[in-house]
Amino acid sequence: MKGVMLVGGFGTRMRPLTITTPKPMLPLVNVPFLEVELLHLRRYGVDEVILSTGYMPAVFDAYFGDGSRIDMRLTHITEEEPLGTCGAVKNVAELLGEEPVIVCNGDILTDLDIGALIEYHREKGAAVTITLTPVEDPTAYGLVPLDDDGRIKEFLEKPSWDQVVTDLINAGTYVIDPRVFRQVPPDTNYSFERELFPDLLSQGEPLFGFPSDCYWLDLGTPAKYLAAHHDILEGRIDVSLRGEEIARRVFAGNDVQIDDSARLYGPLLIGDGASIGAGASVGRLTCLGDRVKVGAGAHVEGAVILDGTELGEGCVVEQSIIGRNTVLGPEVHVAEGSVLGDNIEAGGGNEFRRGIRVWPSTSIEAGKIKF
Ligand code: GDD
Ligand code: MG
Repeated sequence: MKGVMLVGGFGTRMRPLTITTPKPMLPLVNVPFLEVELLHLRRYGVDEVILSTGYMPAVFDAYFGDGSRIDMRLTHITEEEPLGTCGAVKNVAELLGEEPVIVCNGDILTDLDIGALIEYHREKGAAVTITLTPVEDPTAYGLVPLDDDGRIKEFLEKPSWDQVVTDLINAGTYVIDPRVFRQVPPDTNYSFERELFPDLLSQGEPLFGFPSDCYWLDLGTPAKYLAAHHDILEGRIDVSLRGEEIARRVFAGNDVQIDDSARLYGPLLIGDGASIGAGASVGRLTCLGDRVKVGAGAHVEGAVILDGTELGEGCVVEQSIIGRNTVLGPEVHVAEGSVLGDNIEAGGGNEFRRGIRVWPSTSIEAGKIKF
């Protein structure tokens, strides 16, 4: 079966991480997030996927190429100007054929039963079937009320609270009959949520909602990116961890060096070639990327630290994210949802707290920042 993955967005709310890496290519438990999504599709026989890119397309191509490494057929199509969610799929409509296709927002971590979704689409004879998920605050999403038969009654994209009539929102995975793209204008910015779907409804087309209680998280913000790691490490969603279980719920890749006096508290993940120094402690819900160095006496907990980053002696990193190849001097503290980009050099004793975001390649002298 064919699929389209929408990965053209700028990921602005995930800056500074997305200044150097497009959001779907950020690692999730040390594998590009998009690879996790693609392998989920492949499990249900969706093995020919078009990646609709816009922002930093070369990064996708360099890693995935034609997809043969993950046993899929991938085609990369890049827009010069963003065409919107629907315009992006219209742009590749010639490649879709006549049979229903899967279309996915590229920023969703889910274990949705795609087989059941496709079956439901066929049973209902739908033109479009939209997966729905309950959320606590629907105002950041597309609200999709249904009638008793599962037919969609209307679309309320980013509703205000007084429009909220259900907690079911558009979960960003669709089955679509490609004939609906005939009515979409070519080379035009066009939205599924605000244009095509409401248009199809007013034409009386059968649009169905498929409510699901699967795991569902949109990786829109640093807090959600951390939460996704925590959920995987705690087993709330089944994503395989790269490495061996070297102690209870402690997973480690190849060639790791862990000092005998270091303490590890799982669940946690350590990437290939990482090292953990004397007296250091790595606590629950931590993910260390490949070649990360944790200095002597340092403490890390609930954090995501990407490839090649070095923590000096006595550093403390809690509930925060650090990008690639960043170097922290001794006794640096990073806490409370802070986000440090790639290639930063921060001298000893700096303190990053309260969700501070530090842009890539910044140099900070010792002891400059304290909150
Ligand atoms: N190729 C391409 N071109 N991709 C795009 C474009 C574009 O112009 N615009 C957005 N995308 C991609 C983004 O990269 C993302 O993967 C996906 O389409 C959805 O765009 P977002 O910008 O993340 O939309 P949203 O999160 O505000 O809302 C959408 O997702 C919600 C679920 O997370 C809507 O579909 C909502 O209705 C839905 O509830
Ligand atoms: Mg989104």
